[in-house]
Amino acid sequence: MAIHDKEKLAVPHPPLQEYYSEEAQRRKFVSELFDKTAHHYDWVIRAMSFGSGNWYRNQALLRAGLKPEMAVLDIATGTGPVAQSISRIVSGNGSVVGLDRSINMLHETAKHMHLPLVQADAGVLPFPDQSFDFITMGYALRHVDDLHGLFSEYFRVLRPGGKILLMELTSPDSRLGFILTKFYMRRIVPLIARLGTGSKDAKTLMTYFWDTIEHCVRPDGIIEQMKLAGLEDVRRHKVLGIFSEYTGLRKA
Ligand SMILES: C[S@@+](CC[C@H](N)C(=O)[O-])C[C@H]1O[C@@H](n2cnc3c(N)ncnc32)[C@H](O)[C@@H]1O
Repeated sequence: MAIHDKEKLAVPHPPLQEYYSEEAQRRKFVSELFDKTAHHYDWVIRAMSFGSGNWYRNQALLRAGLKPEMAVLDIATGTGPVAQSISRIVSGNGSVVGLDRSINMLHETAKHMHLPLVQADAGVLPFPDQSFDFITMGYALRHVDDLHGLFSEYFRVLRPGGKILLMELTSPDSRLGFILTKFYMRRIVPLIARLGTGSKDAKTLMTYFWDTIEHCVRPDGIIEQMKLAGLEDVRRHKVLGIFSEYTGLRKA
């Protein structure tokens, strides 16, 4: 399916009226929000996860089978937390490229890491076919325009035998888990973000963060889109009822 075929876009969630009124405005809203909050992102995420976020990302990469000699593309790299773990794991023999749509996020990454950084949209990757052994995307699935177009691009730039790892947050299935998680993510985290950074935009980032999680297409829908794009052996590994690790292979 063509990415510009608006009739058939597989959007990750419906328009969220509190932030923008229609789907066509979402991309601009999301880009501006991440650009405005890039310099607060690391602080807020560390506070939200009590400092465990980077440890968890590292574990997820190892679980998914990332190996030292691989050529890796980290999509939606943000300030680089996933790319940082990747570069430690692939060390001297492998490589990692970071890609993001937000120039301010890329500037933040460049302050503490030396790696090739590319400003581009995840749905239109500026790389030849079969360029990478491993593709990662951390917590950005909810922000893309079209899941089918996205996974088709990932399939295209993966080498045969290559693997994808998508890390996401998923609202819990149980009623109690949902209520407690929503209270923490929708009330406490935005308050911490506002008080800790002094930025209203950082607070908005975190309320938007939860709202996209709550309204995101459920895991079965994500798995279906991955399979439709040609990925095989598609799986979801769940941690603590809220962390989802989706993996898929481009068969050799
Ligand atoms: C929540 S941050 C995640 C950053 C990092 N991967 C992590 O694990 O913390 C989401 C990132 O996705 C980027 N992003 C959102 N939509 C994008 C798109 N369509 N293409 C590329 N990057 C995108 C944002 O600019 C932002 O840096």
